[in-house]
Amino acid sequence: MKKRLAIFLSGRGSNFINIHKQILSGEITNAEIVVVFSNNKDAEGIVYAKNNNLPTLIIDHKKFDDRKKFDQAIVDELSSYKIDLICLAGYMRIVSEIIIDSYVSKVINIHPSLLPSFKGMNAQQQAIDYGVRYAGCTVHFVDHGVDTGKIILQDIVDVNSDDDVISLSEKILAREHMLYCKAIDLFCNEKLLLVNDKVVIG
Ligand code: GAR
Repeated sequence: MKKRLAIFLSGRGSNFINIHKQILSGEITNAEIVVVFSNNKDAEGIVYAKNNNLPTLIIDHKKFDDRKKFDQAIVDELSSYKIDLICLAGYMRIVSEIIIDSYVSKVINIHPSLLPSFKGMNAQQQAIDYGVRYAGCTVHFVDHGVDTGKIILQDIVDVNSDDDVISLSEKILAREHMLYCKAIDLFCNEKLLLVNDKVVIG
């Protein structure tokens, strides 16, 4: 049985688009995207999903007075999709325990830094400001903290003296696209498990 993926995004959606293309080309196996969720009806990723006949779900966070009620609405709507894996892909809302506890060890995220460095927003700018020589990206399970979950895969890029936030973000994004697909393929082929709080691959 193919694993049923929900993609969560808020904007451009290049990671999502790449995941979709790699499923179509067979580089990610045993996976299907069954819903693309966004808090932002105008997200470019949602336009792509609609153009490619993928089911979309939009819930505007601004209509809720607290995060837990918003996340409960998402969980309620998602239940009928029988999701095996939620992939956060540029989803710019903090995910509360309402979602995490409903999908234990089934929520993963891509973050544009070598965690545990540079958590939160503007990770690439944080790396430039700090003056690191290497930056990169991390795929991790999502836990109750922000960018604190167990690390699944990482990849690195050089930071050169002439890099700015734009050039560094582009370099990292190219690695993100490869890394996220590799992690999803591992999960969907049951080669990625969280056992006793440790990530086991293979
Ligand atoms: C990506 O760089 C992703 O790592 C980052 O947002 C961008 C989304 O791009 N996510 C975070 O910073 C989450 N903390 P995309 O919409 O083109 O995939």
